[in-house]
Amino acid sequence: MSLSAFHRLLLALCWLPLAALADGSLSAEREQELETLLYQDCGSCHGMTLRGGLGPPLPRSRMNAFDRDGLAALILHGVPGTAMPSWAGLLSEQEARWLADHLQHDTPLDE
Ligand code: HEC
Repeated sequence: MSLSAFHRLLLALCWLPLAALADGSLSAEREQELETLLYQDCGSCHGMTLRGGLGPPLPRSRMNAFDRDGLAALILHGVPGTAMPSWAGLLSEQEARWLADHLQHDTPLDE
């Protein structure tokens, strides 16, 4: 017996990870994933402790020279002509804002 397309859709929706909560904030689970992404994926260029590598270091002091939305836009769109890629395919605007906020306030590096 095969499932109708509608039932497949319903099933697929049930399995969507709970990324955003009703009030527009991110789930604790998604925040944890974003933190892992920041230190592992972004860290592959910016260093696992964000001290720099192929990409520059990302200390809080420097990150606060950007406003949060500008920083989120930079993350989403990348820096054309450099190795800094666009993350728009992987991250929502809300998630990029969360990363920007995290970079400005919550990373260990501040120099
Ligand atoms: C493939 C390597 C690479 C990856 C992966 C990468 N970046 Fe970058 N990033 C760069 C490079 C190179 C620059 C410098 C661009 C330039 O010359 O202005 C940069 C610049 C930046 C800047 C601006 C820094 C400044 O002082 O002007 C921020 C913020 C930033 N990246 C955040 C991130 C975040 C957040 C992620 C993960 C979502 C990420 N990057 C992933 C290579 C990378």
